[in-house]
Amino acid sequence: MRITEITTHLLNHDLDAPFQSSFSTFYTRTHCLVEIVCEDGTIGWGECLGPADINAAVVKSMAKMIIGRNPLNIEPIWLDVYNQYRDQGQRGPIHTALSGIDIALWDITGKHFNSPIYQLMGGAYRTEIPAYATGGFRPEGKDHTNHCAAEMAGYVAEGFRAVKIKIGYGIESDIATIRAVREAIGPDVAFMIDANHGYDALDAIEIGRRAAQYSIDWFEEPVVPEALSSYQSIRRAQPIPVAGGETWHGRWAIAQALDARAVDIIQPDVCGVGGLSEARKIITLADTHHVRLVPHVWGTTVALAAGLHFHAIIPPAPPSHEARSPYLEFDRTHNPFRQAIISKPIEHVNGMVTVPDGPGLGIDINRSALEEFAPK
Ligand code: NI
Ligand code: CA
Repeated sequence: MRITEITTHLLNHDLDAPFQSSFSTFYTRTHCLVEIVCEDGTIGWGECLGPADINAAVVKSMAKMIIGRNPLNIEPIWLDVYNQYRDQGQRGPIHTALSGIDIALWDITGKHFNSPIYQLMGGAYRTEIPAYATGGFRPEGKDHTNHCAAEMAGYVAEGFRAVKIKIGYGIESDIATIRAVREAIGPDVAFMIDANHGYDALDAIEIGRRAAQYSIDWFEEPVVPEALSSYQSIRRAQPIPVAGGETWHGRWAIAQALDARAVDIIQPDVCGVGGLSEARKIITLADTHHVRLVPHVWGTTVALAAGLHFHAIIPPAPPSHEARSPYLEFDRTHNPFRQAIISKPIEHVNGMVTVPDGPGLGIDINRSALEEFAPK
């Protein structure tokens, strides 16, 4: 079995209603898929987190090292490619591109052995995963507080038992939004806040101290991801558990954050951290550091499927009768191609999502949707 072709597919949708995190405005939804073809006709799919055009260029550069090789040799391919790029690639597009390639190789391997990826990786601890609704961005030019409260109440009405909102729009505005959301969702729904590193340590500490009364389950990315010492300060100085890690790529960056006790909850993204191969190593790192692991998920259903296989193999920590299951991040923002690119959408039922059990990722790509949403 040999790899004959590696291609990327860019997807794009221009938003009629742009929305904002603390620092960026989303005018389009854009993602990069990786397709790897083998000489026997087996095809694998992966996805890269982050800027689609850059990921596509890096995947193209890496392809020449991979074509002709046996796709089942995932770890040797990973190490050869990473080693070739590591001097300038310890964070960022080298890891995100390699993530997409690695996921596609696991998809091929699963199809080759007629087995879901989670089975090949040692078996699932769970195949039904409780999801939290991710949304609560600020609509461009509109009031965040009322919009966010109504949006979250809608997710609860859909059956979600956990929600996450965006903050980072100013302390007073954020506290008003947090209060309004807690009132709208009631006392029993898990509620997380995500600043997308929109604060410095002092402001983050003030937010944490004032928001704690609204029973917040975690405070995500309070400060820029480089500032591990600020993460430590925030953990010490306010009561809400601190989460982060979606931009910490590779086992070494994750280990650095864990060694620094920067977070209570580590959030690697399988499409950024280095793929499923690297995600498996990070499961062990989090376990041995006794830090809770709750993966980050952002992208199309390809990323969602890869994230579900990742979730499935995270061991309960600690194993107990009532062991907790890590939440699945389930993006609810507008993206018409997210589900359209696969033949059978992966949706939630009362806030629960089932891990696909078909071979590989367990999804079938709808090529007409790839064409429909290709950048014009
Ligand atoms: Ni639209
Ligand atoms: Ca986030």
